[in-house]
Amino acid sequence: MDFDIRAYREALGSFPTGVAVVTAAGAESHIGITVNSFTSVSLDPPLVLWCMDRRSSRHDHFAAARAFTVSILGTEHKAVSARLARPGEHALDGIDLLATELGPPALRDSLAVFECVQQQALPGGDHTILIGRVQRFSRPGISAPLVYFRGRYSALAQGKPPEGVGGRRTTDDK
Ligand SMILES: Cc1cc2nc3c(=O)[nH]c(=O)nc-3n(C[C@H](O)[C@H](O)[C@H](O)COP(=O)(O)O)c2cc1C
Repeated sequence: MDFDIRAYREALGSFPTGVAVVTAAGAESHIGITVNSFTSVSLDPPLVLWCMDRRSSRHDHFAAARAFTVSILGTEHKAVSARLARPGEHALDGIDLLATELGPPALRDSLAVFECVQQQALPGGDHTILIGRVQRFSRPGISAPLVYFRGRYSALAQGKPPEGVGGRRTTDDK
C-alpha cells in the first residue's frame, strides 16, 4: 500500500508514550539515545524491547552491545532527552549518571531503571528490535513522567494518583 509517510508518522504520533534513554557501551565510552519505542514483552521471563533505527549512526554499537540500561525519564529530564535525540549527539559527558552492575549507566533520578542483557536483535524493516532480559530494576525517582505526543514533549495532567499507587518494589526487595 502507498502511504503518505508524513501523515503515517503523524498518525503514529497520536499514540502518547513515555520517554526513555537507553545506554550501552560505545567505541570508547558509554553512549545514549532517546527512545519512545520501549515496551515490556514478557513478565516471566522478564523481557523488554525497544526499536533502533538502522540508519542511525549509533545503530551498530547498540545492536552489538552485550548489555543495555533503560532509564525512564521524568519531566526534569527534558533537556537531556532533547540532547540525546540530536543527530550525532550520543556522548554522556556532563549528564548526571548512576553506576549499574552491568556497566551501562542509568540517568540519575529516573522513574525506573531496567538493567538488561541483550537476548535478541531481530530485523524489523528499517529498525532492529532489541530484546533484553532484565537482570535488575529499581525505581529511584518520584517525579512526573516525561510524555511524548504528536511530536512534542508533554506531561500527564496533574491529578491524584489512583488508589494503591506508590509501592516502590525493586529487585533489591526480599
Ligand atoms: C521522543 C523521541 C523518541 C525517539 N525514539 C526513538 C526510538 O525508539 N528508536 C530510534 O531509533 N530513534 C528514536 N528517536 C530518534 C533518536 O533519539 C535520534 O534522534 C536519532 O537516532 C538521531 O540520529 P543518529 O543516531 O544517527 O545520531 C527518538 C527521538 C525522540 C525525540
